[in-house]
Amino acid sequence: MTRKFQIYAGLAALAVAGGGLYILSDRHAGHEMAKRLTDGAPVILPQLTANAAEGQGLFAENCAVCHGKNAVGTEQGPPLIHIIYETGHHGDPSFYRAVAQGVRGHHWRFGDMPAIDGVSEAEVGKIIAYIRETQRANGIN
Ligand code: HEC
Repeated sequence: MTRKFQIYAGLAALAVAGGGLYILSDRHAGHEMAKRLTDGAPVILPQLTANAAEGQGLFAENCAVCHGKNAVGTEQGPPLIHIIYETGHHGDPSFYRAVAQGVRGHHWRFGDMPAIDGVSEAEVGKIIAYIRETQRANGIN
């Protein structure tokens, strides 16, 4: 093995390790943030896209009674700006399903979520945009 090769191999290993550390610390930051949110700290409100801003209104009308203003949760329902509802764990289909069919209580002790009448799929799409943009602003991806 040449000396030059050893140096390149060493640099490559460092880059891989550094990337891994970066990803870990990023995820960790998300968890810390979510923990902070559940401790009642205020949600950071991002500048919403037009679509998400419409979703915010729809959410206030149809979901906030249980999920709370800015989706921080109430006595009737969980916060959606929470690490549990990041895209990797509750992807967008889980939102369409929740609204159309309701949800059996499984993560919390709030009981079941009923199906929500009068909210179209297109409207759920806007609500999802609102939730995802707000999640990202709070370190939840
Ligand atoms: C009557 C109260 C209530 C209303 C209104 C309500 N939810 Fe829920 N929702 C709940 C509860 C309770 C849960 C938690 C169930 C559990 O324990 O996992 C939940 C869970 C969810 C979940 C997680 C689904 C899963 O697969 O775990 C999503 C997404 C959701 N709600 C979206 C919405 C949206 C969007 C609206 C408005 C269109 C809405 N909810 C309105 C009570 C409500």
